[in-house]
Amino acid sequence: LDPDKTILRPELLDFHGVSMTHYFTDNWEAVQNFQARPDDILIATYPKAGESRNETVVTRLKRWDHQAPSSSGTTWVSCILDLLYFGQTSPERQTSIPIHERVPFLEIFAPSVALVGTDQAEKLPTTPRLIKTHFPVQFVPKSFWEQNCRMVYVARNAKDNMVSYFHFDRMNTVQPEAGDWKDYFQRFIKGKLVFGSWYDHVSGWWEKKQTYSNIHYMFFEDLVEDTGREIDKLCSFLGLSPSAEVKKQITGEVQFDKMKKNSMANYSTVPVMDFKISPFMRKGKVGDWKNHFTVAQNEEFDEDYRKKMKDSTLQFRSEI
Ligand code: A3P
Repeated sequence: LDPDKTILRPELLDFHGVSMTHYFTDNWEAVQNFQARPDDILIATYPKAGESRNETVVTRLKRWDHQAPSSSGTTWVSCILDLLYFGQTSPERQTSIPIHERVPFLEIFAPSVALVGTDQAEKLPTTPRLIKTHFPVQFVPKSFWEQNCRMVYVARNAKDNMVSYFHFDRMNTVQPEAGDWKDYFQRFIKGKLVFGSWYDHVSGWWEKKQTYSNIHYMFFEDLVEDTGREIDKLCSFLGLSPSAEVKKQITGEVQFDKMKKNSMANYSTVPVMDFKISPFMRKGKVGDWKNHFTVAQNEEFDEDYRKKMKDSTLQFRSEI
């Protein structure tokens, strides 16, 4: 390892046509050769799966007081799966092991801080192994497909995803600089953020689902709307049948306020994140984009979105 490479605020690089940083490409060979097991479960998301023409949509609407819970939902679904599989046998995990250790991040490579996703996944003592990735579908190592592993993809509407990712990039010093909102907005539209284009990501996984049946495609907005219902759907996909009581308990455990307070779920133990700038568990709402998008940005966004997504059958809700 080149010690100079373990830098804060890394540059964005073009990697097989996808914007990435070295933290997620340096271990490429080991990641691509990772040996998945048939019972591994891959949790996949795009990160933060997040007139004055300058007034925001919220000021325009004046009375925007509806605050229903919203991000991409990686951490949320990771906690749900961890509870479903290990909540009864090892309840202490929830308050003693950080979520990024329970559910390793496959492609991360930061050996100086002991974060090497492939090693962490290989050392996991529990079965099934729950593994997280932010890869676009074409980067997923081939053994996951060969082993017919189950995969849970969580997508979030583009506008909230953008806002959530913006705040994440502001506070996470191992991500490229967020810059100002106006600039960030343009970079999101152009796909110039880590892990590339949101549009390609959500569509690529959606397309894959049409031919690979072991993908459960979820929406962040549905989770916010009715967490219990989404846990039920997850259970049918996974072939689990927990009691109503256990499901209720899990639903309670993963409510935003509960997770926000749990240092083993809220990333407060990760030193590269500056919570003084923005907490990881920020708002957990659907529709927070209205506090960020100007009216002009909203129009520009919608027009571009229609073009980019015109051939897709994917439907998102930006409010619930
Ligand atoms: P916000 O920035 O909008 O608050 P990821 O885990 O994919 O990085 O996504 C992080 C986003 O998911 C953040 O969104 C975070 O608050 C939200 N989130 C995480 N757990 C949640 C929960 N239990 N309920 C609602 N939102 C949650």
